[in-house]
Amino acid sequence: MILLAALVSVALSQVCKDGDLECPVTSGATFDDETSDFSLRQLRGVKAAVSKEWSFLKPNPELLIWDRRVNTSLNTTTDLVNISIYNGWLKVPLVHDPALLDYELPPYVCLRVRGMAALQQPAKNGPLLAHCGGPGSGRRCAMDMSKLNFDIDGQHSVISDFDLLAIDQRGVNTSSDPYETEKRWGKVPPCPFTEAEKAVKPFPTMYCNEIKRRNFLQRPKKLMEMLAPLDNTSMDAFKNYVLPIWKAGNVPFTDMAPYNESFARWYYRLVKLEHAFCFEAERYKLKAPNGREYNSLLFAGTVDLAHDLDLFRQAIGAEQLSLYGASYGTSVVSVYASIFPQHTFRLVMDGVVNPAPDVTLRAGSSARGIESVWDGLVKDCETSLVRNMAPDEVCPAAPSAATKTMKVLLGANKTKAAQLLRLVQISVFKYQELFGPLAMACVEQFYSGTEVYGCNETFQLLDKLASYDTNRSEANESDHFQIGIQSMVMGTDSAGRLNEEEFITWWKTTKDRDPIGVKWATTWIIAMST
Ligand SMILES: *[C@@H]1O[C@H](CO)[C@@H](O)[C@H](O)[C@H]1NC(C)=O
Ligand SMILES: *[C@@H]1O[C@H](CO)[C@@H](O)[C@H](O)[C@H]1NC(C)=O
Ligand SMILES: *[C@@H]1O[C@H](CO)[C@@H](O)[C@H](O)[C@H]1NC(C)=O
Ligand SMILES: *[C@@H]1O[C@H](CO)[C@@H](O)[C@H](O)[C@H]1NC(C)=O
Ligand SMILES: *[C@@H]1O[C@H](CO)[C@@H](O)[C@H](O)[C@H]1NC(C)=O
Ligand SMILES: *[C@@H]1O[C@H](CO)[C@@H](O)[C@H](O)[C@H]1NC(C)=O
Ligand SMILES: *[C@@H]1O[C@H](CO)[C@@H](O)[C@H](O)[C@H]1NC(C)=O
Ligand SMILES: *[C@@H]1O[C@H](CO)[C@@H](O)[C@H](O)[C@H]1NC(C)=O
Ligand SMILES: *[C@@H]1O[C@H](CO)[C@@H](O)[C@H](O)[C@H]1NC(C)=O
Repeated sequence: MILLAALVSVALSQVCKDGDLECPVTSGATFDDETSDFSLRQLRGVKAAVSKEWSFLKPNPELLIWDRRVNTSLNTTTDLVNISIYNGWLKVPLVHDPALLDYELPPYVCLRVRGMAALQQPAKNGPLLAHCGGPGSGRRCAMDMSKLNFDIDGQHSVISDFDLLAIDQRGVNTSSDPYETEKRWGKVPPCPFTEAEKAVKPFPTMYCNEIKRRNFLQRPKKLMEMLAPLDNTSMDAFKNYVLPIWKAGNVPFTDMAPYNESFARWYYRLVKLEHAFCFEAERYKLKAPNGREYNSLLFAGTVDLAHDLDLFRQAIGAEQLSLYGASYGTSVVSVYASIFPQHTFRLVMDGVVNPAPDVTLRAGSSARGIESVWDGLVKDCETSLVRNMAPDEVCPAAPSAATKTMKVLLGANKTKAAQLLRLVQISVFKYQELFGPLAMACVEQFYSGTEVYGCNETFQLLDKLASYDTNRSEANESDHFQIGIQSMVMGTDSAGRLNEEEFITWWKTTKDRDPIGVKWATTWIIAMST
């Protein structure tokens, strides 16, 4: 239990004391009122040399305004280090397509950004942008990575010689940052920029809650009418499929619903309807200075982010940018480097996601990825037999752990099967060192029917874990299926979205090929497809 508590408590060290706040940081620079001429030239990417006038500490105030500086300490792998963290707003055009600019100015939006000043100023190696993936992770990434990963030499070389940057990508909930919030550094100040004499607003937070907002759960007939043709079984379907999916926010594990085609179909239908309404929501519609309306959801892919990052680079007067990306962040890094090779210095890609911009290829590799981790745990289990280990160190599910797993998952007791699938998924996703061995204990116990040490306790741990991280927000403005921003970004990036029948064809083969990975991959393929 102690191990579990240590693993699940996200230890964010105390970073800011009262009186540490120092804001605003005024650049003291004077500048002309922005003319549309300037914006157009800048947006067309005219290769003016990066102005030597601007720097990380003194950015171009037409693009970036630091409004809060916080001196705090960073708990590195070896000691506490004093750092200065800058917080501010970056102003970007909604549409970066230079062809548009021959005709009209697009709307502008603000993105919340953060910079951790290099210990040695000016930074010898320039800026390093950190993206922690998701999509959906935000501006906390630079600091989080500094604590966890960037200090591998214990000498602070990364934070000494790079200014670390991070951004709330389009659609990220800017209020969800754990540092800039009440009782810490304080709430986020408003975006100070104007365009065509109007205040520029932050890019709207991406969330989808239209089925709830429109009270469709209280009007099941109306809801079912939109999901499928009505017949005399519709209300049964509402009760058997729609409600359980709605409550779980996904296909539930219960009774092996993850291998049940009807659940797959209804999940697709429900998410599709939610996203269809969401796409039409008024909060995503922005007006250009000439009054034309744009749907901001069409301009929030990874290419849009890469252009935003390049404006961030220009704003701090840097010729080149280095980038570190984890998971989906590896897409961000590689897209930036592909579009702006001349402005790219160093790249780190940590946990590479399939770069193919195709829905089926990406979902297929999600399924394979999960399956491969499980395959690795199974292989370790089986080889424990031949490693001269003490009897109590040999994996209880060996030999034939994979076969036993599938016998249970496809067996007659669906409650047992569902419990095991959930446990196996957790052992793949989180805390492998803890849950991997426990999953093997349960594979054996469920398969053989004889008690194996560790298995019963596992489910108490799982319940405990569930109370930490699976509660869904009841707030009105919450993303019901929790894939809103992922759908927007990856859906924009990927071609080949599947309709319901194509999805089912994909699902049938994937559940047989990757029975452990299929549930996770189903979420992603539906996100991208809808
Ligand atoms: C820094 O982190 C270490 C290891 O997680 C922890 O033991 C220590 O208490 C932390 N120090 C502060 C000041 O937060
Ligand atoms: C924060 O740190 C900077 C740079 O080290 C220093 O100039 C400034 O005075 C500090 N501010 C506060 C409030 O400590
Ligand atoms: C960090 O700042 C504190 C006061 O804010 C100071 O006492 C301490 O000496 C500083 N540490 C370093 C390594 O500069
Ligand atoms: C954004 O985050 C805040 C703070 O956690 C939360 O109250 C709010 O509901 C979130 N909004 C959305 C749309 O998720
Ligand atoms: C639904 O209607 C069909 C024919 O239209 C009938 O065969 C079937 O028994 C009905 N099912 C139920 C549950 O009433
Ligand atoms: C799928 O789930 C439904 C609802 O729980 C159930 O009635 C049906 O028998 C299941 N189908 C299969 C093939 O297990
Ligand atoms: C199925 O497994 C569950 C959980 O282990 C158990 O409580 C239940 O009695 C089993 N059902 C049957 C019919 O064996
Ligand atoms: C472990 O669980 C099984 C099945 O639920 C039960 O029969 C057994 O009594 C439990 N053992 C302990 C020690 O709780
Ligand atoms: C999550 O919900 C369960 C059941 O309603 C509750 O017992 C648990 O305390 C909740 N956890 C959190 C972190 O709110």
